[in-house]
Amino acid sequence: MSMISAEHSREAQKEQVVKWRRHFHENPELSFQEEKTSQFIYDTLLSFGNLKVSRPTKTSVMAKLFGQKPGKVLAIRADIDALPIQEENDFPFASKTPGVMHACGHDGHAAMLLGACKALWERKDELSGEIRFLFQHAEELTPGGAEEMVEAGVMEGVDAVIGTHLWSPLQTGKIGIIYGPMMASPDTFTITVKGRGGHAGLPYDCIDSVVIAAQVISNLQHIVSRTTDTEEKLVLSVSQIAGGTAHNVLPDEVKMVGTVRSFNQELRESIPGKMESIIKGITSAHGAEYEFDYEYGYRPVINEESVTRFLHETAEELYGNEGVALMKPSMVGEDFSAFLQKADGCFFFTGAGNKEKNITYPHHHAKFTVDEDALDYGVSMFVRAAIKMLGSSEAG
Ligand code: NI
Repeated sequence: MSMISAEHSREAQKEQVVKWRRHFHENPELSFQEEKTSQFIYDTLLSFGNLKVSRPTKTSVMAKLFGQKPGKVLAIRADIDALPIQEENDFPFASKTPGVMHACGHDGHAAMLLGACKALWERKDELSGEIRFLFQHAEELTPGGAEEMVEAGVMEGVDAVIGTHLWSPLQTGKIGIIYGPMMASPDTFTITVKGRGGHAGLPYDCIDSVVIAAQVISNLQHIVSRTTDTEEKLVLSVSQIAGGTAHNVLPDEVKMVGTVRSFNQELRESIPGKMESIIKGITSAHGAEYEFDYEYGYRPVINEESVTRFLHETAEELYGNEGVALMKPSMVGEDFSAFLQKADGCFFFTGAGNKEKNITYPHHHAKFTVDEDALDYGVSMFVRAAIKMLGSSEAG
């Protein structure tokens, strides 16, 4: 291929990825309901040529690309689901489905993985081993799609797994790398304080669940500030509280919902017990009763050292020192962690914010979008990493 036509096909490839992203953006589907999305991915993958394409679960897709000789197996994952949000962008390709929106960038993730698959398919003669492209459903809704795919066997024989999240807090042009703990385990809980309602002017005739709930909330913070090693990262938030109907009525009960986030499995498992002893102590001291329900969410995302260094070097080779941002862990959750149970791996951020273009809205916002120039960075990271890991010659 001449320089000019290579350049031309590179541009065409970039444009194609943007087109795919817009298609996904316009046609979002909620978690576990990604039927058209997965069909589109399935059909597109088949159109590339001789890939082994399958459906590990109802709305996920896997493609296997085999190199010329046996070798390592690299899995690359993208999530494909959207959120129950009414889009407030007025793009020509804005969501056509009321109340559903790609507000986290998974439209871009699906498009980038298709782009990487196409580019690597075209270079398959340089590869040994296998690349497994995992298009995962339902990242946004527990129990999550990753676990289902793992149970369906998609990680059998995988040596390393990588994935990325387009990240609007990080500027386009930067690859965000985090060694070790990266994303927290997003557990949830519900507490109901059960008192005895009555006239708010006669509280001595009641068991005031509002006052007791207030005690419970403030005492729960002692778990973070007084009983947890200060070196550990732990968040405990009561984020929702409901009880009562009028100024002169004390309610029978108050219900609270919240989240606990940490990176340490041992610490995490100690939290429900600590919470319950506080809830039990305070409610029983005041003659009330309680219900407590604690649900474990995704495992924390902990990046493995050598794969992380490998991606760190890959990013530096592509974009130089200034193209890499060494970042701090984030307390958001990600079910990429399910894949990490089966192989060493690394999840990284692909900067997708752009202040000059006013692309600054946070993830899960009704005006969220990604800078489409970011897509090529994600594609290039995947392609370069795969060629480096599985290529017979030096990466090009
Ligand atoms: Ni997301």
